[in-house]
Amino acid sequence: MSLYAIGDLHLHFGSELKVRSQLSDPLWVDHEITFKENCRRLITDEDTLVLVGDHSWGRNLTECEPDFDYIRSLPGRKILTRGNHDMFWDAKKTAKLNELYAPELTFLQDGYETYGDIALVASKGFCFEGPFYLDKRGNIIGYDEENKSHADKLVKREAERLIASFEKARADGYKKFILFLHYPPTSVIEKDSIFTSIAARYNVYQVIYAHCHGKSRFHDSIEGKYRGREYSLVSGDYLNWVPKKIMG
Ligand SMILES: [Fe+2]
Ligand SMILES: [Fe+2]
Repeated sequence: MSLYAIGDLHLHFGSELKVRSQLSDPLWVDHEITFKENCRRLITDEDTLVLVGDHSWGRNLTECEPDFDYIRSLPGRKILTRGNHDMFWDAKKTAKLNELYAPELTFLQDGYETYGDIALVASKGFCFEGPFYLDKRGNIIGYDEENKSHADKLVKREAERLIASFEKARADGYKKFILFLHYPPTSVIEKDSIFTSIAARYNVYQVIYAHCHGKSRFHDSIEGKYRGREYSLVSGDYLNWVPKKIMG
């Protein structure tokens, strides 16, 4: 029994591709085929696969249906968390999604799922992505204040949601946690954030995140061991479409 994670599948079996570069980038050519082959090679039906947001370019459930069919065809238990491009997913209607797609797909938002005695807690998260002002050498010397203050509000809201989920899991007796964020835990101008503080407060064992894709974004946030816990970027193109084994 193992736990795997990957994010940013950006499927488009039933919808229009929004980022044309996805067609020409060698890392994305036939990525659905590559990913399914890798899953079938590595994952058994006893394993759990967490898909960390940006599942589909579909704007609604009808457009996403073929993408969900694809995800259903992958081996193992599938848990989906929310990404910024998941237009089909209204956070307040997550229970409805679970009603529609149970038992094959689990949509995790506000609350937790379990893997053995570990609570899996997830949030879309958020982080400030600019615009940044650069000097001639490419160093960041400033940023758009208005965008930053808007981002701060979204970060706060997501952090509150996340804390509520941790508290729920803790109240139910869970003491071990893995945190899944779609956005990276820190922006390019931060070393720490409210998300790294939350990870420390609940003594999270591992922090898994996605969203950073395209080679220039792979090193935007924390990777590896940091302040006693492990941080892993699991965007699909970063992993070459090989799901990352988190435990087991
Ligand atoms: Fe993405
Ligand atoms: Fe994203």
